Amino acid sequence: MKRQAVVVIDFGGQYNQLIVRRIRNLNVYGVLLPSNSDIEKIKSFDPIGIVFTGGPSSVFAENAPCVAKEVYSLGVPVLGICYGMQLIAKDFGGNVEHAEIREYGNTTVNLLKSPIFKGVEGESVCWMSHTDRVCTLPDGFEVTASTKTCPIAAFSDEKRKIYGVQFHPEVVHTQKGNEVLKNFLYEVCHAAGDWKMNDFADEKIAEIRKKVGDKKVLCAMSGGVDSAVAATLVHKAIGDNLTCIFVDHGLLRKDEAKQVMRVFKDEMGMNLTKIDASEKFLKDLRGVKEPEKKRKIIGRDFIEVFADAAKEIGKVDYLVQGTIYPDVIESGLGNSAVIKSHHNVGGLPSVVDFEELIEPLRELFKDEVRAVGLEIGLPKDIVMRQPFPGPGLAVRIIGNITRKKIKINQEADAIFREEIALAGLDKVIWQYFAVLTGMRSVGVMGDERTYDYTIALRAVTSVDGMTADWADIPHDVLAKISNRIVNEVKHVNRVVYDVTGKPPATIEWE
Ligand code: XMP
Repeated sequence: MKRQAVVVIDFGGQYNQLIVRRIRNLNVYGVLLPSNSDIEKIKSFDPIGIVFTGGPSSVFAENAPCVAKEVYSLGVPVLGICYGMQLIAKDFGGNVEHAEIREYGNTTVNLLKSPIFKGVEGESVCWMSHTDRVCTLPDGFEVTASTKTCPIAAFSDEKRKIYGVQFHPEVVHTQKGNEVLKNFLYEVCHAAGDWKMNDFADEKIAEIRKKVGDKKVLCAMSGGVDSAVAATLVHKAIGDNLTCIFVDHGLLRKDEAKQVMRVFKDEMGMNLTKIDASEKFLKDLRGVKEPEKKRKIIGRDFIEVFADAAKEIGKVDYLVQGTIYPDVIESGLGNSAVIKSHHNVGGLPSVVDFEELIEPLRELFKDEVRAVGLEIGLPKDIVMRQPFPGPGLAVRIIGNITRKKIKINQEADAIFREEIALAGLDKVIWQYFAVLTGMRSVGVMGDERTYDYTIALRAVTSVDGMTADWADIPHDVLAKISNRIVNEVKHVNRVVYDVTGKPPATIEWE
């Protein structure tokens, strides 16, 4: 079934993916395309609407990103947000100026009569973040919103169905933002609202069944949400013709490997084999202290172990990967510096003898993957799992890794997780875990001097892991966790709480 799509053109704004997610949450399939996409690419989605994102540039700057002008003559409604609005103004002969007063943060905006403001006319608080602003309207446009310092805070050309808003309807701080986007989709683009996760799961399963038939499929399971949902969709489609391999590198959290085997093999009946490769990983990691070196070794070993297992199975027709939409989005602007080389299972295709990749989650954001997971009956604690790095505890044990240190980390982490869940905080904290610092210090226990390890507790709130705030855990909960860890975990005599955001820190310690 072909779904309606809205194309979002990326001008490098920090909320670009958020716009697509908001659109999808309103049951319309949104796709993000770089601003330099050619018109044929844009047309290939047969969009019912086009949205321009914000961006850091000034429309008059040299190399300012622009979009193929033909978008305006497709007969498809256009909504420009912030930079997107200024670009529309420029493209239609209006004027944009550098405002003397920068508008930033919550701003009262007076929304006038316009299809995109249907039901939300009048004053409301909107989120602004701009220095430039439209100062002269292009021909055919009229003002549809203003603020005290920005007379043209929104405009529209009803005839051509082109709209612009200076504020950001996609961020939660804009009180009526969701209604504005909804109006654009349903009042202006006349969307059918045909993007729904339960339909998605059923259709995907049918599609995989039709495509694969009785051919053989292989999947690397990590126990993480993406590979779990991808494998389950394929399993529901083709049953035992799917073989899953789970490489246990010995750096998982306490009882995690057991849980994966219980849920997927015992309860769901998947054809799943666990390979205990912890000896190899630990041997290769022996004495290695440098975080990037650890990541490289684990990435390499993982591929080697998987390749050996795949060789035994022989040639397969398809390889399943849990690639999700943020992994495939080509961003509009810029290359960021590599802070950490995150590895997933990206290198597998080069070592497995297969015909074609199956990536059932390629179009989905993480929250959509979770919705599909619940839809197809995966247990909540698997689907809602917090993110866990590919290199596992290797980047949560500072310095060299030994079995003893892994055990200390696992025990402390298990207590932390248990207490956070007991306090009902597991739903509000995005990621939380124990770090075994490389530091030892002096303590006193039962009148005896101790010289033992320090555990750091790390807990953050975040939306996507790109930025994060440290979580404000109540002191009594922290006290209980600390107490239990020093009492129950051997070789720990001190517990500290990390109160640093990202930036300047990162979420993981290594
Ligand atoms: P950082 O530490 O970079 O983490 O702030 C951001 C998010 O990414 C996860 N992370 C990793 N995930 N391989 C992964 O698959 C890695 O090497 C890796 N390092 C960090 C981290 O857990 C957080 O969710």
